[in-house]
Amino acid sequence: MKLLVTGGAGYIGSVCAARLVAAGHEVVVVDDLSTGHADAVPDGCRLVRADLADVADPLLAEGFDGVLHFAAKSLVGESMLDPAKYWHGNVITSLRLLDAMHRNGTPRLVFSSSAAVYGEPSRVPIPESAPTLPTNTYGATKLAIDHAMTSYATAHGLAAVSLRYFNVAGAFGRFGERHTTETHLIPLVLRVALGRRSHVEVFGTDWPTEDGTCIRDYIHVTDLADAHLLAIDHAEPGQHRIFNLGNGTGFSVHQVIDACRRITGHPIPTRLSPRRPGDPATLVAASDRARTHLTWKPDHPHLDPIVHDAWTFMQANTS
Ligand code: UFG
Repeated sequence: MKLLVTGGAGYIGSVCAARLVAAGHEVVVVDDLSTGHADAVPDGCRLVRADLADVADPLLAEGFDGVLHFAAKSLVGESMLDPAKYWHGNVITSLRLLDAMHRNGTPRLVFSSSAAVYGEPSRVPIPESAPTLPTNTYGATKLAIDHAMTSYATAHGLAAVSLRYFNVAGAFGRFGERHTTETHLIPLVLRVALGRRSHVEVFGTDWPTEDGTCIRDYIHVTDLADAHLLAIDHAEPGQHRIFNLGNGTGFSVHQVIDACRRITGHPIPTRLSPRRPGDPATLVAASDRARTHLTWKPDHPHLDPIVHDAWTFMQANTS
């Protein structure tokens, strides 16, 4: 298929673009390089460096079989301080994309939604039927786009799939996490092991969990990318299908830091800090729907290999 990958110079978009090329698809990447890197675009992909909102219509007029939409603003903390950046950057841009797809007859859309749409869950693991009550602007914008996709699927026959990611980590060869502003736990812990930071802060030790730190469900970026390839194949005209993507096992912040100590051999000093506002205590996915309907089966269900791949990537990309 000929596929447009928005945000294909970013972490998850570049891994997915690489897997799509390897599977024989023709891939065009559109990215404004505001957070992505031109050298992260896989060989064999054409890179269009532009704002998606400006070029979606002329690009799709070329004729595409589908779009994988990764381009987004994705820092939860920033979304609370600068909501306009998120409502415009995520929602308005995605509406432009949906309109351009409709005008040009692009049939399929796979969208990077988020566990953040659920907010503080009333029960875990979280199924797709759980209430969507986002606790931050980032999650609210992802949910708004999900709703728009449902409308466009119903009204215009779009074959739409939203993939709700839990905590993505790991790397795929030369494609990995290279955020200028890093806020995620695993890369921050590994920066301590590399000697680039003195310690890692543990945000809250009084959460209602066994060791008092937050629990998250970590998924390897290649397993996540593979779900996108399956989603493109399983998208049905006129339907908006939603899938949670996680391994179904939760790890506390302390457990993640211990895994990083095991993998790196570094003692990784910690400093106990207050809770980070907006953090839910526990987020673990029920991904049975993806396993059943997409025939998705993660190859990396355990934490240590995920950390290992992130560590290998980080050691090779220390700049
Ligand atoms: N944490 C620390 N210290 C740090 C960084 C993080 O203790 O220096 C903790 C956080 O408080 C949280 C856990 O580690 O409990 C994981 O934090 P991340 O920032 O790595 O990930 P989040 O769970 O906050 O966010 C992820 C995605 C978001 C998405 C969200 C869905 O990065 O895009 O899951 O809940 F919205």
